[in-house]
Amino acid sequence: MAKPAHSIISPAILYWGTPVVLISSENEDSSTNIAPMSSAWWLGHSCMLGLDASSKSTQNILRTKQCVLNLVDDSMVAHVNALAGTTGSDPVPDSKLPRGYKSVKDKWARAGLTPEPSDFIRPSRIAECPVQMECELVQSHNLREDLPDLAGFALAIEVRVLRIHVFEHLRMDGYPNRVDPDKWQPMIMSFQELYGLRTGKLGESELGKVSEELYRGATRSTAREFPGDNDDQISTGMHGNGILDTMLPN
Ligand SMILES: Cc1cc2nc3c(=O)[nH]c(=O)nc-3n(C[C@H](O)[C@H](O)[C@H](O)COP(=O)(O)O)c2cc1C
Repeated sequence: MAKPAHSIISPAILYWGTPVVLISSENEDSSTNIAPMSSAWWLGHSCMLGLDASSKSTQNILRTKQCVLNLVDDSMVAHVNALAGTTGSDPVPDSKLPRGYKSVKDKWARAGLTPEPSDFIRPSRIAECPVQMECELVQSHNLREDLPDLAGFALAIEVRVLRIHVFEHLRMDGYPNRVDPDKWQPMIMSFQELYGLRTGKLGESELGKVSEELYRGATRSTAREFPGDNDDQISTGMHGNGILDTMLPN
């Protein structure tokens, strides 16, 4: 079959497909702001977030050094759409006016979502989200510092995941600390549209033959202990059969 030809393109955004996250962060009055975002990736228990500097979430995270990353699944489109085009900032930042953003103080009520307390940090978790990660700020970096007209508009924010909460039905049978990817149905943003992964696994993964616990060494510091570091030793009495998952390299 003939190889398809490439042609040059320059989309204004390069959202090729990343999970949708609802970030919880604490406002000045101790209420919790929530906002959708999807420029997020994880390595070990570190996460990098790409955020607009003018967002309330960004300002809250830089000030309080805390946030919850709540992952939505593919059943939560209405919740995400209810939050799209809103900001906790009042007035709306100039950069968001051309895109029709509105200030909304109580985004929980607007999106029909329910707060529940976190264990280690002040912002609330979102009860409806199947995955919730309590995080603290490590450092932030201004993007595009080489361009005087664009410097400081967006930040790359590194956070450390302290504790992870998941719905029980997402766990992999027989393992205390594994999520079953056949059960986890993330919502993915591709460009500005929302997708799921319902078509299932594409095939057997070579990488998937490596025990997940062999990555544990990169999630912990031997120099400093953090809250949540021993979460893998919390036994619910229901998931104790994973032979490999109890063999920690450190
Ligand atoms: C599905 C979705 C994904 C988004 N992804 C991002 C993102 O990755 N980074 C970002 O800065 N804004 C993103 N936004 C826009 C923010 O939600 C928007 O800036 C919002 O005003 C932030 O709320 P806040 O000002 O209350 O923090 C996304 C919006 C939606 C609906």
